[in-house]
Amino acid sequence: MLITKEDLHGGVRRLAAELSETYQDGLVLVAVLKGSILFLADLVRALTIVPEVDFLAISSYAEGSGRVRIVKDIDADITGRHVVLVENIVDTGLTLTYVLGELARRGPSSLEICTLLDKSARRIVPLSLRFTGFSVGDELVLGYGLDYAGYYRNLDLVAVGEIDALRGDPRAYVEGLYAGPS
Ligand code: IMP
Ligand code: MG
Repeated sequence: MLITKEDLHGGVRRLAAELSETYQDGLVLVAVLKGSILFLADLVRALTIVPEVDFLAISSYAEGSGRVRIVKDIDADITGRHVVLVENIVDTGLTLTYVLGELARRGPSSLEICTLLDKSARRIVPLSLRFTGFSVGDELVLGYGLDYAGYYRNLDLVAVGEIDALRGDPRAYVEGLYAGPS
């Protein structure tokens, strides 16, 4: 196990306090589907401001190619608004660099990133992460929205993936992942 449920929720509360303090004049939270949904759900409930919430879905042309496209755009007009992108993990940074570029063209008055996890060892494109929950090393992490082949998003903690076991069968029984609630 990497980050327990208690630690996760402590980190989320800290980020919510930072956002609430910074954006008293209004905020549009743009969450990147699907991985950020658990993080977003806990984050918004811990805010003491009332944000607008919107969603964006992207799709990669090829795994690791860094080439992504928007498959579901936000509904909100973000021109002149304060916008924070909510992501579960920043790895190479290629995905968010693309998304930031797309949103920046629409003229928000500010545009920042709030990520639960920062896997900085793998960064290819430098990105300024204004709000960061936890740093993780160069390993596959699962749970709390993070998936392997679509599975394990539902775990209420962030776990280090048993990549060798999962590579052969993404649904393989890995005891540490199915240990259940503590
Ligand atoms: P980036 O474009 O390399 O920064 O990739 C970010 C995306 O890769 C995230 O939104 C995740 O979907 C995925 N990702 C990166 N590392 C992990 C991981 O350790 N577990 C699960 N998904 C990951
Ligand atoms: Mg993924």
